[in-house]
Amino acid sequence: MTSVSHAPRGLEGVTATNSSICYIDGDQGVLAYRGIDIHELAERSTFEECCYLLWFARLPNRGELQELKLNLARERKLDASIISLLRQAPKHALPMDVLRTVVSALSFYDPEEKVNDAEANVRKSIRLTSQIAYVVAAYDRIRKGKSVIDPDRSLSHAANFLYQLTGQIPSATAERALDIALILHADHELNASTFAARVVAATLSDMHSAIAAAIGALKGPLHGGANEAVFRILESIDASGADPVDFVKGMLAQKNKIPGFGHRVYRTEDPRATHLRTMSRDLGNSSGVPKWFEMSRRIEEFVVDDRKLNANVDFYSASTYHTLGIDIDLFTPVFAVSRISGWSAHVMEQLNDHRLIRPRAEYQGPIYPNKYVPVEQRR
Ligand SMILES: CC(C)(COP(=O)(O)OP(=O)(O)OC[C@H]1O[C@@H](n2cnc3c(N)ncnc32)[C@H](O)[C@@H]1OP(=O)(O)O)[C@@H](O)C(=O)NCCC(=O)NCCS
Repeated sequence: MTSVSHAPRGLEGVTATNSSICYIDGDQGVLAYRGIDIHELAERSTFEECCYLLWFARLPNRGELQELKLNLARERKLDASIISLLRQAPKHALPMDVLRTVVSALSFYDPEEKVNDAEANVRKSIRLTSQIAYVVAAYDRIRKGKSVIDPDRSLSHAANFLYQLTGQIPSATAERALDIALILHADHELNASTFAARVVAATLSDMHSAIAAAIGALKGPLHGGANEAVFRILESIDASGADPVDFVKGMLAQKNKIPGFGHRVYRTEDPRATHLRTMSRDLGNSSGVPKWFEMSRRIEEFVVDDRKLNANVDFYSASTYHTLGIDIDLFTPVFAVSRISGWSAHVMEQLNDHRLIRPRAEYQGPIYPNKYVPVEQRR
């Protein structure tokens, strides 16, 4: 088929693939992994269990879950060359850029670098999930001149990440808060970074290439980078003593978008924001620093009322991560710490029913045939 129809800007509303991983109803505000509602998963599941669900298309039994946890814990290791690569990164290198580069380098040391079959890709998904968390934590310590903390294989994925980041075993509240955040960020259908991963996988390239591409897409402020932009606004408000609503009004008057609001798919509240709002409030109260939540809430009330725009996943994840002691420029890498589970599930699904992704563009350039003018005759 060679015909080309008009492309909506940003492919809005286009169904670009079949998938059985993530269900979204943007009008009803429903998000579900393999059909299981995100609210139920956030309340009852764990990140490890969600990984199993995304990768194997069903919930694990007790033994299967235990085995996956063991495998994830066993893969908490990095080749010494990766640690030295982290040490060689220039001081100004942002964690998200370091992560993108290191994920590419991880392929050199992957025991199955040249294998792209289904079984190897499950093992690569497990490895990358453990390694990405390790890399984010280790780089943060290295750039601060601190020692890299060895992983604790007895801890959950969320608890070990916080442990390797801070050197302290986290409280049960902090562990559970991060675990829920990881569950909420694990997958989101054909978002920009997942689409990028699938396009790469569809060329029959490898898992690491697909994930490196996804990280590049996630970085942008219209996608995962929005959580960092949200906190920079909260910080500016705090530092200047401005009224949060006036600050946001000023941004809108200058035709700036407010990070953390709006969504291509949801016409209701983003169901993930519902949980993150509660977490932000509870963590704020329990830490004795409720101001980030209170500021966020005032901004939200205004934007919802004035612009009819709802908070998305990034809005309350900003104050939540800050209260967990995570630096601003780690917010988007922490998104990747979770989303690797969904990206890899999509790469495996793409390869399972594979066809090259190669759409068409509607040509709007000079009329064909255009004349070639030799350089001497050009003005
Ligand atoms: C998420 C996002 C990229 C979706 O974009 P989209 O589907 O292409 O929608 P558009 O950017 O075309 O927005 C539609 C309208 O709503 C407005 N709008 C959307 N998000 C807005 C925001 N966060 N603040 C202010 N206005 C916004 C746009 O200015 C546009 O108004 P117009 O029609 O008067 O020009 C967009 O809402 C956005 O940039 N949000 C901020 C970044 C963010 O939080 N990203 C994380 C997403 S999970």
